This record gives sequence, C-alpha cells and structure tokens, in this order.
Amino acid sequence: MEKTLSIIKPDAVKKGVADEINQMLADVGLNVVEQKKTTLSRAQAEDFYGEHKERPFFGDLVGFMTSGEVVIQVLEGENAIKAYREVMGATNPKEAAEGTIRHRFARDTEDLSANAVHGSDSPESASREINFFFGSEAVAA
Ligand code: CMP
Repeated sequence: MEKTLSIIKPDAVKKGVADEINQMLADVGLNVVEQKKTTLSRAQAEDFYGEHKERPFFGDLVGFMTSGEVVIQVLEGENAIKAYREVMGATNPKEAAEGTIRHRFARDTEDLSANAVHGSDSPESASREINFFFGSEAVAA
C-alpha cells in the first residue's frame, strides 16, 4: 500500500465535479483517507510549488491556485502514486488520454494551471506534500 497527495484544483471545484473525480478514484482502487476543502493562501501556494519558482508560469500558477476553493486529499492504494498519475492524465489536458480526469474535465482549457487536479510525482514528493497539508502522522499512518 502507498499514499499520494491529490489536489482537486479551483477549476474543478467551481465546475462541481469533485464527486465525479472521487468516483473515478474509487473505480481505480484509490481510497480517500484524508480530505479537506480549503482556500490556499499565497504563502501556502508559493511554498507548496516552491520547486517551480524559477519557471515562467510560477506567478500564474500561484494566482490560479489561490483563486478559489480546493479539495486536498490523501489517497491510499496499491502503487497509488503511479495509479493516480495514470488516471489524472497528461499535465497538458489537450494531450491527456481519453478516460483520464484531465481529458474529461479540463480538455477545453488554454491555461495549463487549470488542469483539474494535482498529484504527487514521486515517493519523496508524496511524503513532503502529505506532510505539508496533513502533518507527519498522516505520512506514517
Ligand atoms: P501540477 O501537477 O499542479 O504541478 C505544477 C503545475 O504547473 C502543473 O500541474 C500545471 O498545472 C502548472 N503549469 C502551468 N503552466 C505550465 C507549463 N507551461 N508546464 C508545466 N506545468 C505548468
């Protein structure tokens, strides 16, 4: 069993598709073991996405991620990191395969920040990101 961090981003929350996303997670064997709905502060978004701070899209990404409510989740399942990245689809929703979350809910977007969901990309990121939002007990549990 493995854990990963998921963020249902402001575009998807505004569209009202969080429940449909949760159903897609359940369908691939990912269980939601922690979940909270919140609005990120600028400081939180800048810190969370700190690895991207030199990238040209950083300001837009932080602005977008603080523009509305998000649903932050810890998902658990077999090979959860890979399983979630598969069901998310490509970062650019126009390149996301049919049947993925980003294809279903973000393929009309021109704004790569508004790609419906975020998922950890490695075990190290998953630990850091779960700890960031839910504390070290959630990483270890
Ligand atoms: P996410 O998984 O949340 O991690 C970083 C985010 O940066 C990524 O998904 C995209 O939403 C966002 N982003 C915005 N512009 C770009 C870009 N040009 N290339 C990659 N990611 C981008």
